[in-house]
Order: sequence, then C-alpha cells, then structure tokens
Amino acid sequence: MIVSLLVACVPAPTPTDPLDGLTLVAEDPSDGPIRGLADAWMARFDEGDVEFEAARREADGLGPAYIRSACASCHGDDARGPGVVRKMVVPDDTKLDGELLPFGHTERPYVAGGATTPLTIPDDGRVLVSTRAPPAVFGRGYMEAVADATIEALAAEQAALGVVSGRPNHVRCDFEANDEPAFFPCTPGATVVGRFGLKARVPTLDGFAADAYQGDMAITSPMRPVELPNPDGLDDDLAPGVDLGLEVVNRTADYMRLLAIPARETLDASALFVDVGCADCHVPSLPTRADWPVPELAGVDAELYTDLLLHDMGPAFSDGLSDYEAGPREWRTPPLVGLRFMRSFLHDGRAATVEEATVLHGAEGSEAAPSVAAFQALSDADRAELIVWIESL
Ligand code: HEC
Ligand code: HEC
Repeated sequence: MIVSLLVACVPAPTPTDPLDGLTLVAEDPSDGPIRGLADAWMARFDEGDVEFEAARREADGLGPAYIRSACASCHGDDARGPGVVRKMVVPDDTKLDGELLPFGHTERPYVAGGATTPLTIPDDGRVLVSTRAPPAVFGRGYMEAVADATIEALAAEQAALGVVSGRPNHVRCDFEANDEPAFFPCTPGATVVGRFGLKARVPTLDGFAADAYQGDMAITSPMRPVELPNPDGLDDDLAPGVDLGLEVVNRTADYMRLLAIPARETLDASALFVDVGCADCHVPSLPTRADWPVPELAGVDAELYTDLLLHDMGPAFSDGLSDYEAGPREWRTPPLVGLRFMRSFLHDGRAATVEEATVLHGAEGSEAAPSVAAFQALSDADRAELIVWIESL
C-alpha cells in the first residue's frame, strides 16, 4: 500500500508495454489488503507492511553474508523481483558438492556486521548455477488456510484419474516453536504438508518469514536463532544474539496473510483452460478451513489456480536440488495469481510471457506435456483468448 501513495509518479505505460490496455497500479494495486477486514486486522496489515518494506541495517542484525536487506527488494509490490536468489549444486556427487560448497547451496553476495567475505559461486565448471525467481506473496494467506487433508485428497484424486500425478511435499516443521498465538500450530519436528516455496518446502507463513529473514537477509529470530555458515566463520553480527523478536516475524507473516488476491474481472474459469487440461494442476479453487482465524479467509473457495502439489516437469526443469520429498525435476504448481504484475515466469524466470511459460513447461518428459500439446493444437483465436484470460488472473 505504501506504493499507492506514489501513484502520481508512476508513468503511463508505453504502447509496447505488455500491460497496455490493462489497468495499472493506480486503481489496481498488487499490494492491497483483503476487502472488509475488521479494524484490528487492518491495523495488523499496516504494521506488517512496514516490516515487509523495511531495509534492515547492521544495527538490526544484518549480516554476516546476506542476499538483500529487505523483503520488498525481491518481492517489490509483493510481486516478483527485482532481487533473485541464485542456487549452486554439484549434481549427483554429494561428496564433491560438500567440498566445493562448504557453506551450502545459496549465493550470498553481500556482507555486513563484521563479515568481509561474501559467499560467492566458485569458479568451477562442475558447479551448476540456477536462478530462483521470487514468487509473489499476495494471495498466500488463502494458500496457508487450505487444510492438509484437502491437498492429500487432491493427490489421491489425481492418482485415481491417472492424467497428472501430483504429490504433496511432506516436510518437517523445521523451526523453533512460535509461542505467540499462531494460525497453525506447527510443532517443531512434526511432519506436515508443505506449500510455500518453489518446491513447497515450508508449511506456514510465519515459518517462511523466519526462514527468509535468516536465509535471505542473515537476520536471526527466535524461530531461526542461528546465523548460517559463512566464509568468515562468524556466528554473530553487530546485534548480539538473536536479532529480531517473534513479534516482528508474526507481523510480517500477518501482512502476507491479509494481502488480497489482486482484483479479477471474472471469477469464472475459462472453458478452454479446463478443456485442454490446465485446470488438472492449476485447480481453479480450493476450499479453506472453516476454523481459520481471519473470517474473510475461513470457509471460502479460494481462486488460486493451483493444487499445491509437486509435479515432474521433465529434464529441462531439473536444477539438481531436492527439498524434502521434492526431487530436482519437481516443482509446486504455482498459483496463477496477479500474473499481470509480472515480467518473467517459471521458477527461474526463463519465460518472458505467459505464452512462453506455457509452451516451455510442456517439453518432453513433463507431466504437463499432453495439456500443453492440446493448448498448441487450439486455433490461433482460441489460444489468444486463453492467454488474455490467464493474463487477467
Ligand atoms: C534475495 C531475495 C529475497 C528476499 C530478500 C526475500 N525473498 Fe521471499 N522469496 C525469494 C525467492 C527466490 C523465493 C522462492 C524460494 C524457493 O522456493 O527456493 C521466495 C519465496 C517466498 C515465499 C513463498 C511464496 C510462495 O508462493 O510459496 C514467501 C512467503 C516469501 N518469500 C516471503 C518473504 C519475506 C517475508 C521476506 C522478508 C523477511 C522475503 N521473502 C525476503 C526471494 C527473496
Ligand atoms: C502437470 C501439471 C500442470 C499442468 C497440466 C499445467 N501446468 Fe502450468 N505449471 C505447472 C508447474 C509445476 C509450474 C511451475 C514450473 C516452474 O516454475 O518451473 C507451472 C507454471 C505455469 C505458469 C507460470 C506461472 C508463474 O508464476 O511463473 C503458467 C503461466 C502456466 N503454468 C500455465 C499453464 C497453462 C496455460 C496450462 C495448460 C495449457 C498449464 N499451465 C498446465 C504445472 C502444470
């Protein structure tokens, strides 16, 4: 919402802008709250917005090695980019992987808090590098409110039909306890269905916030109290001990929980989208739990266009990395939400348009291949109509 104050400065789209013809930020922000929230939730949203935008400094505990200093640096307007994460891996050789990448698989190019050596990509041809494009964070409150059982049931349904074969990612609650009133009690060590992250490795938004503060910004919190390994061997920074309070993690999580799905002109799934089988994975809506603490998120059909399951996208999509049960070729079906706010698509941003993303993810060996072949067999007019509809989501 902070951005909407600057609306007067946003230039009009040029005629070649892919968004030409669609409403831009002025009347259609990507970072607005769910409509109709009670005042207390609205206050919570505003407080969390500040945390999400804030650029952290050394005095806040930034460092040792980090990627960016604010959530908003990679989720600008709560959408995708401009910052990205780069991952490194030596595929199929665990020993060499450990030797060449002693500080893990994530590049951390900046240093603060007494560190002097960034965590860079080794100059070695055996190290494979892949970019991870940040997903948007809007609409994620609905994703968190879907029950594990709903996701498991979808997987069973797909297995019975035999057209696509999504699998839930069973993950551990890999955090210290969040002992402030939580939305979803994720008992440390318990096994649950993951849903956040490109490979669905994190179950909750407070968990993701703590993970991102630690992993992307090198800022520790009670849920993730330990600084990650770094080339300087530092286990602390200029803010002694744990850097942030739990309340900051929870405010950040609540902000994301309360972000709306950007407005859509039509809520009906396109018949073409269903006919060619996109909707088998990009499931138009998922029911949320009736007992969810925010009334606006409870017991609704959330139009997310995802099944929250992992799918095998074929060899061209392998990044060599696994996450709990997700293998190198497997990715979570992304929610098709607010696509008009994005300029690059797919997990590494390799596609510049929705149409390119669609075609690329139907390559040989991908579970989406038959559906994408059906898409490509449509008449030019039908294909164009379908793309326009997806871009409006
Ligand atoms: C350096 C860039 C960067 C920064 C800074 C960053 N993120 Fe992210 N974020 C990403 C990337 C990349 C992913 C996908 C990660 C993956 O799955 O490997 C992601 C994923 C997410 C997701 C999951 C969304 C989904 O669809 O599953 C959430 C939620 C999130 N980030 C919240 C945050 C919060 C909160 C902060 C600040 C505390 C933050 N991020 C800081 C890059 C960043
Ligand atoms: C087998 C399941 C499956 C089917 C069928 C499927 N998709 Fe996807 N879709 C995915 C997965 C998984 C990804 C993420 C791949 C990645 O990030 O590399 C994805 C990504 C996308 C994206 C990029 C979204 C983003 O945020 O970058 C678009 C657009 C898309 N799909 C459209 C379609 C269309 C249109 C169809 C039908 C022609 C379709 N998909 C059929 C699973 C599927």
